[in-house]
Amino acid sequence: MKKINVINGPKEIPAIILGCMRMPSLSVKEAETIIDTALGLGINFFDHATCYGRGEAETRFGDAFANIKIRREDVFIQSKCGLCFERNEFDWTKENIIESTDAILKRLKLDYLDSLLLHRPDLIFEPEQVAEAFDILEKSGKVRYFGVSNVPTMQMELLKKYVKQPLVFNQLQFSLDQSQLIDQALYVNNLTTERSIDRDNGTLDYCRLHDITIQAWSPLQKGFFKGCFVDDPELPELNKALSEVADKYDVSKTAIAIAWILRHPAKMQAIAGTMNPEHLRDIATASNVELTHNEWYKLYLASGKMLP
Ligand SMILES: NC(=O)c1ccc[n+]([C@@H]2O[C@H](COP(=O)([O-])OP(=O)(O)OC[C@H]3O[C@@H](n4cnc5c(N)ncnc54)[C@H](OP(=O)(O)O)[C@@H]3O)[C@@H](O)[C@H]2O)c1
Repeated sequence: MKKINVINGPKEIPAIILGCMRMPSLSVKEAETIIDTALGLGINFFDHATCYGRGEAETRFGDAFANIKIRREDVFIQSKCGLCFERNEFDWTKENIIESTDAILKRLKLDYLDSLLLHRPDLIFEPEQVAEAFDILEKSGKVRYFGVSNVPTMQMELLKKYVKQPLVFNQLQFSLDQSQLIDQALYVNNLTTERSIDRDNGTLDYCRLHDITIQAWSPLQKGFFKGCFVDDPELPELNKALSEVADKYDVSKTAIAIAWILRHPAKMQAIAGTMNPEHLRDIATASNVELTHNEWYKLYLASGKMLP
């Protein structure tokens, strides 16, 4: 498995993460199988969030992980907090960050998290409170690294003014179908396309400048959870290009879609959401593929974009 070293952060982490959002649908035994499969592929990094199945994903993982014979220090376990759908609010207060972390650890049956991300911006967050919470969690040994998810440039700047710990990850939606993270740079100032709209104030370049590793969520999804774009008959051009490149490397179209993310020089991680061991084995083969510069563009253009 291709590895990534995060400056100011963890080293030798896998380029592919297993996202556990869909784990609530599994039995404990099935959860053990997918965790074991991931570990066998070198995917020893697991992503959670308090809201996945309202805690069910973490509970299932905790029950399964307790049965797996692996040293805690040989896996990287991440969760996210802040989305409080049950209360109809996003909450980055000190109390919520600390209470959520304690609840996460209890559900996962762990003493510490390798990383904790703030899931989506709380519109009325106070950075001083985040800083206090991070200090307490770091000093108590409950969290090793901190980061954010779906957080744009200036909010990261605002956090950095108060938070002492480096923000090492930003988890963002990014895929061949949902490539808004990179599109704007191509169409800058262009009045003829919506793609020229700067939707996140240069988050990609900010992350690269500040050594924040981007974790690409929903790397295979069309739109906002409209299903996997691989083999989607509504996307014939993209699937034709994926198929041509896949043939060259003797891997699947799915693997090429993941390899396209890993080819970006920002050295992103891709978070695979499958709970199917066969699909995960297939996705892991992306790690062996290094697309050429031209192949990367061929796939990007086949996904419905054009050069200005
Ligand atoms: N930070 C955030 O706001 C945020 C938001 C969403 C998700 N996430 C994270 O990102 C992770 C991944 O999200 P996701 O599950 O939407 O991502 P995804 O990996 O893009 O999509 C997973 C879906 O694609 C299907 N799939 C995968 N490989 C396939 C194949 N070879 N053929 C057919 N279908 C295939 C899976 O079906 P099968 O199960 O049948 O394989 C599953 O339904 C989540 O688990 C979570 O950790 C974060």
